Formats: sequence, structure tokens, C-alpha cells
Amino acid sequence: MNNLWQAEAPANIALIKYMGKLPGNIATNPSLSFSNINFKTEVKLELRCEDKKDIWMPWEDSGDLLSEKESDRFLQHLGFIKNHYKFNGFFIVRSRNNFPSGCGLASSASSFAALTMAAAQAISSLKQTPPPPVKELASLSRHGSGSSCRSFFMPWGFWDGVDSGPISFPGIEINHFVVTVSSSKKDISSTEAHKTVRTSDLFVGRERRAEKRLKELMSSMSTGDWRLCYNLVWADFWDMHALFETSNPSFGYISDDSMFVLRVVRSYWEKHNDGPLVTMDAGPNVHLLFRRDQTLHQNELLNFFREKYLVLG
Ligand code: PMV
Repeated sequence: MNNLWQAEAPANIALIKYMGKLPGNIATNPSLSFSNINFKTEVKLELRCEDKKDIWMPWEDSGDLLSEKESDRFLQHLGFIKNHYKFNGFFIVRSRNNFPSGCGLASSASSFAALTMAAAQAISSLKQTPPPPVKELASLSRHGSGSSCRSFFMPWGFWDGVDSGPISFPGIEINHFVVTVSSSKKDISSTEAHKTVRTSDLFVGRERRAEKRLKELMSSMSTGDWRLCYNLVWADFWDMHALFETSNPSFGYISDDSMFVLRVVRSYWEKHNDGPLVTMDAGPNVHLLFRRDQTLHQNELLNFFREKYLVLG
């Protein structure tokens, strides 16, 4: 009998951000993201017959380690999935990322999505039941990490409240890169950020602003108004970071290097009236999204950043 199951899931970067939530990781505002399988988490589950608890172990040959808090959270989510499908067995869980985690590259989204997929695969094969539909998995995964529900949909995913799904923008193909100005773990987790932003005066109105931008972004993606897409995506990540900075206590992720990269990209747009979409997650690194036909802009900007930083993509 097979006793090993494996799944992988992409990280996703939000162009309209999810920030602020209700219990059960129900988003207080709608969001839209791009999933990139070049940034992925793999999870392997092995059925464990002798012991009475799930354990997390590093993937063989991988240097990836989770802190006790992180592995507890991961195993708690596995417990939630097992409970949902009324499964009583135990697993050894191994996971690895092919990119740095905890620094604003959305590793919790890919990790929780991959764990949910692997657990559902294992349980349906052990119970000999049909594999659950993707939307059901996305919804379960949301309980572990909210933004992970969008990692089930490639390349574009939307999420509103409890509902997540795919969305398509025909004719727009994206090359996504991250200018990695730091790969150190961030001090404030996104879980803490979601709680603290409620203390910001700017939190009132966040839902309305995100909804309005999302509508405008979907329409400008469809009409091909790339400049408007850039303005909206730029405004939305600043909106999220302004919530961080104006919270009580105030906190933030934007470093001098992040600012340098942002200013270079903004000047590039001013000079060429064209360029990539730019966004930042809860971390100092800067995400650039080029259309496939923007090869010249892509080469010029990335070659410039590569002289100083690691560019992943
Ligand atoms: O999924 P969480 O709870 O780690 O929230 C992360 C939210 C952001 O990554 C900061 C923004 C987003 O929409 O992905």
C-alpha cells in the first residue's frame, strides 16, 4: 500500500492586498493575486503507524527548518484537515521551499496550500474516497493561512470573504520577479499585522478602497490599460504599508533598499511611460511584474538591479 503522498503549490503575490480579517480567516476586503510556480513549497506526508501524533521533519537534503511555533501552526492545520475529513491516522510531514521564507515572498500561502493538497490526497487515497474539488481545498486551506486560498488558482486568483476562485485576463501573460533586498525573517508576522492594522485610523475605508481598486484593476487589465494597472497596484501596496506605519504600535517593512528599488522603477516609468507593475508584500522585497512583450524593459531594469541585489524569478 502507498504510504507516501506529495504535493506542491505556488506562492502568490497580491496586486490588491488582503489585510484585516475576521475569525476563520474571512477577509475584510477582496483581493487579487498572481501565482508563480517558480516560487513553490513541496510537502510530503508519510503515514506513521507506530506513534500517536503528527510530526514535522526537515525534507531530506534540504536546509529548510521551521521554528517550533511555525511547525506547531503547520501541524495544527493538518489536524484541522484530518478532523474535517474524519481521519484518525498520523503523518510525518516534510516540507521545503525553493525560495527564502518569511521575508515577504508569500511562503505561508504556498506552504499551507501544499499541505492542504497533500493531506487531502493522502486522506482520500486512504479512505478510498474521491479527491475533493479544488474550491473546497482552497476554502479549507484558508483556515491555515488566508492568502493560501489564492494559491490554488493559476495564474490569477481572486478571493472575497469565503469565496476564492480563478480569474482570467486573456492576452496578458506575466513574468514575475522579486528584487530580494533582504532574505532575513521579518520581525512582525502577517498574523500580527492583520490584528494591529485595526488600530490605524486608515483602516476605516480600507474595504471600500480595495473594492474600488479591484474593480478598476479588473477593467484596466481587460482593456489593456497597463499604466492604470501600474497606478492601481502601486497605490494598493502603499495603502497596506500605510496601515502598518499608522498602526498603534506603528511597524513597517520598507527599508532604504526597498525605497531605492521603488524610486528606480518609478523614475523608469516617468522616463519611458512604461514599465512593470510593482508591489510589495509584508516584507522589504520588491515584486516586479512585466508583460511578456516587455522584454526590453525587463532586461534593462533587471540587469540594473542584478548589480546590487539577488533577483529571483
Ligand atoms: O495569509 P496571511 O494571513 O499570511 O496574510 C498575508 C497577507 C499579505 O500577504 C500581506 C497580503 C496578501 O493579500 O497576500
